[in-house]
Amino acid sequence: MTRSTFDVAQERSDAVERRIADDPSGLRVMTGDRPTGQLHLGHYFGTLANRVRLQQAGVEVFLLIADYQVITDRSDVSSIRQNVRELMLDYLAVGIDASEATIFTHSAVPALNQLMLPFLSLVSAAELQRNPTVKAESDAAGGALSGLLLTYPVHQAADILYCHGNVVPVGRDQLPHLETTRLIAHRFNERYGEVFTEPTALLSETPLVLGTDGGKMSKSANNSIMLAATEDETASLIKRAKTDSERAIRYEPESRPEVSNLLRLAGLCQGRRPEAIAGEIGEAGSGALKKVVTESVNEFLRPMRARRAEFADDPGYLSSILDTGNERANAIADDTLDRVREHMGMVY
Ligand code: TRP
Repeated sequence: MTRSTFDVAQERSDAVERRIADDPSGLRVMTGDRPTGQLHLGHYFGTLANRVRLQQAGVEVFLLIADYQVITDRSDVSSIRQNVRELMLDYLAVGIDASEATIFTHSAVPALNQLMLPFLSLVSAAELQRNPTVKAESDAAGGALSGLLLTYPVHQAADILYCHGNVVPVGRDQLPHLETTRLIAHRFNERYGEVFTEPTALLSETPLVLGTDGGKMSKSANNSIMLAATEDETASLIKRAKTDSERAIRYEPESRPEVSNLLRLAGLCQGRRPEAIAGEIGEAGSGALKKVVTESVNEFLRPMRARRAEFADDPGYLSSILDTGNERANAIADDTLDRVREHMGMVY
């Protein structure tokens, strides 16, 4: 039987995990987010906690605030400055060490963006058109497909390759992007000579945390526990959470998804198994469950929220982190672009 792309990616990922445990030197994690608003607990358990883990394990971390990616599917940029700030605050709140990480924005790093031109020549229109993630995002935007959305996997390749990021934590759905990045690195090297390393997707297991209505956590659905919310906001959101009318609280993800999701959430926050929490609540019903969840979440987020508030009081510090990150990113991107030009014989 032939092995699927996924199996191969999983093996590479496992090998990198072993290297992280043994000796993480030479590894550089490259990842990021679009600055579209504040982050929620789904982001925390899905990716942020993993980034902090990697940084604490001694892996170098590059965090991209993907501002140009915001305009792939929307035209309103009126809150972009505020959103960049909120994203940085969330990073710092969850425990990213800004003195070790490089936090930067697309728009401040011209040489990164220029890599897009040679990279675009290395993929065909057909390859871009069949990227499943681009298709999904275009569907989500009501079928609109801007030229930038169509080509953004190539832009993402530039994000990763400019700084020679070799570890990219991704969910399964983002794997096609990383395959595009690997393909571009490979084709560039083949055509012009060795400049880029093909990065590895890090496919860490992360728990799926759903919103308080049982659907995917998303800010627009008003079902998300925001990291920056107050304790009262959190309590009232959980109070309105969907449950069922059975008094006995049990962890049964298949038959009782909403109750089980709340148990999972409390479990993650307490560092315990959801079954154990269900056992304690017993026959006390949804009201008792919600009380436990609210307390667990608020207690878990309290130190992060306190840190966030401290940093929010110090806008000069936030600016200085971004200035330093952008400066560092520019130095690396200029160097990479110089090498690309040399390999392409474009030095005059
Ligand atoms: N596409 C990612 C998202 O929508 C953000 C992103 C942009 C990214 N460039 C990246 C992630 C490079 C990893 C590597 O969340």
